[in-house]
Amino acid sequence: MAEIGKDIAKARSLLQQGELVAIPTETVYGLAANALDAASVTKIFEAKNRPYFDPLIIHVPDIYSVKKFTEEIPQKALRLMEHFWPGPLTFLLDKKNIIPDLVTAGLDRVGIRCPDHPLTTELLKSLSFPLAAPSANPFGYVSPTTPAHVNDQLGNRISYILDGGECRVGVESTIMGFENDQTIIYRVGGLSIERIESVIGQVLVKTNSVSNPQAPGQLQSHYAPRKPAELGDIQNLIDELSHRSVGLLTFQKTYSSSSIKKQIALSQSGNLEEAAQRLFSALRELDKSDVDVILLEEVPDIGLGRAINDRLRRAAAKS
Ligand code: TXA
Ligand code: MG
Repeated sequence: MAEIGKDIAKARSLLQQGELVAIPTETVYGLAANALDAASVTKIFEAKNRPYFDPLIIHVPDIYSVKKFTEEIPQKALRLMEHFWPGPLTFLLDKKNIIPDLVTAGLDRVGIRCPDHPLTTELLKSLSFPLAAPSANPFGYVSPTTPAHVNDQLGNRISYILDGGECRVGVESTIMGFENDQTIIYRVGGLSIERIESVIGQVLVKTNSVSNPQAPGQLQSHYAPRKPAELGDIQNLIDELSHRSVGLLTFQKTYSSSSIKKQIALSQSGNLEEAAQRLFSALRELDKSDVDVILLEEVPDIGLGRAINDRLRRAAAKS
């Protein structure tokens, strides 16, 4: 198992030696390495069993760092950075040559964001390179929101987890970019579309190009528990599956039936921020329990609800 601690100097020194360190962010834990060193970045793909065609996001301490790694920054991007960084918003921007092709899977654009977590900000400020970091989970599985989640699955593949407590937002960053004159959302995430549109006006959401995934976070089956999961009307599903032992993940309500072995309501008060924050922990808890099937219920499709529903659909998608 990996060591879990708050020692920034230790994390820094491991990263400088080309090793992997799990880092806290406001969204989910990341599995970090020196983004400018291809040999270090290779270790990320190996530890996660991640296909090399799936590019990585780089993490920077501030807006000023962006121009070191990307060509021109569009005006709209700059305005959004000023509004929402540090925060759960990633931009796809044309990369400079200093970023290894391995990081972007050979694409011209690099994903870049400034995470909002005091330990990771301090770490990034102390380093002379940005950190490439995907979510710290095996490829395709539910993202981690606590150090224990990381340790459960990757603890034997990394030596250190920087402990920043439980992630505040709980779903991954929103990913956006620019094509011709259009602003495109490629992944709905921790910053709502409504908030983005309040600053730059209308955007186009393009998260379901399954035949040609621009971002494999768009793959239908992703963020998925190991147990079978069904998404739909909970009462109907309970009736249909009355012979199985089921676990429920609901928004606010609780249900009663002898077939229910475990149930988690994400937010009894109906708060979407709270629901997002608890989502991945709840999925993991149900996955670990001894139920046969996990039943999932959609939440209102507004604000962070869109990111939650996106993860629920992918958790239930058949691979
Ligand atoms: O909140 C987050 O974004 C977390 C924390 C750790 O920062 N990171 C994260 O990374 O979710 P990851 O690798 O699990 O998801 C990033 C998604 C992937 O689906 C990847 O394919 C896509 O972003 N992506 C990254 N760079 C890209 C690029 N240059 N072009 C297209 N898609 C890209
Ligand atoms: Mg991921």
